[in-house]
Amino acid sequence: MKYALLNGEMIPRLEAKVDVEDRGFQFGDGVYEVIRVYNGKLFTANEHLTRFVKSADSIGISLPYTIDQLKETLEKLIEKNKLQLGTIYMQITRGTAKRNHAFPTEKVTPNLVAYTNDVSRPTEMLCSGVKAILTEDIRWLRCDIKSLNLLGNLLAKQKAAEAGCYEAIQHRGQDVTEGSSSNIYIVKNGVVITHESNHLILKGITKDVILDICSKRNIPFEEKTFSLDDLMNADEVFLSSTTSEAMPVIEIDGNKVNNGMPGEVTRQIQTLFQREIESQCGELVGES
Ligand code: PDD
Repeated sequence: MKYALLNGEMIPRLEAKVDVEDRGFQFGDGVYEVIRVYNGKLFTANEHLTRFVKSADSIGISLPYTIDQLKETLEKLIEKNKLQLGTIYMQITRGTAKRNHAFPTEKVTPNLVAYTNDVSRPTEMLCSGVKAILTEDIRWLRCDIKSLNLLGNLLAKQKAAEAGCYEAIQHRGQDVTEGSSSNIYIVKNGVVITHESNHLILKGITKDVILDICSKRNIPFEEKTFSLDDLMNADEVFLSSTTSEAMPVIEIDGNKVNNGMPGEVTRQIQTLFQREIESQCGELVGES
């Protein structure tokens, strides 16, 4: 049996339920995180939990726990569910209140939920690379908040799925922003370029790890807006996220990137990223 955390209590997952008037259920009035677990250990937990608190703060939800407390409970959940390789999904909503767009005036307690999933590493795709499509970014202007409202992202991802592709690369006019659930990078003349972390994209934790690797290993990088032309003329393209790690993109809208092969800089970053995982969570063997 798998367990879930509901407002600090560990209960059987199938019993973890919220009211129909939970504001997350009705309005998407909440925020979430997805954290990777390798070898039974959380990867970049502090960074994810710090972003969780920041996202919640930015919509006026204050967490009833400290980051250390949250981390400790998540570790207990991993142990209870005997999770070795997977993810933790957690979300907090403003709480349960009579339906009304404005925030409840009475005091409501936020609903905090967390549960685990077994998720393997996408090893084959990390090796071969994936295809993507382009789509206009129709989302709101606070994409820096990891909000439960994901309709724009879902519509983009569905378009990619229908085209037999892994990801939808979004753009506002000529400017490339990010994937439907990932950050996007190009490599041109050896320089890694990715959108600056502002209100138009989510500041990915994986992105932070990758840029940190670049600065430590003297791989030149820039955080700046790049155009669709830059994307289509890039030497290499890759994407990153908690579950995708550093994933080569080898085709966009039917046009091959780097002759349909993952590029050298991408490969180097993948190797260094794997080393970072191993330094936090131990050696990755077999399917891990
Ligand atoms: N998505 N941008 C968007 C819109 C995302 O949804 C995500 C992650 C990222 C990458 O962030 P990170 O490196 O912190 O995972 C960028 C998660 C994994 C999801 O919704 O499942």
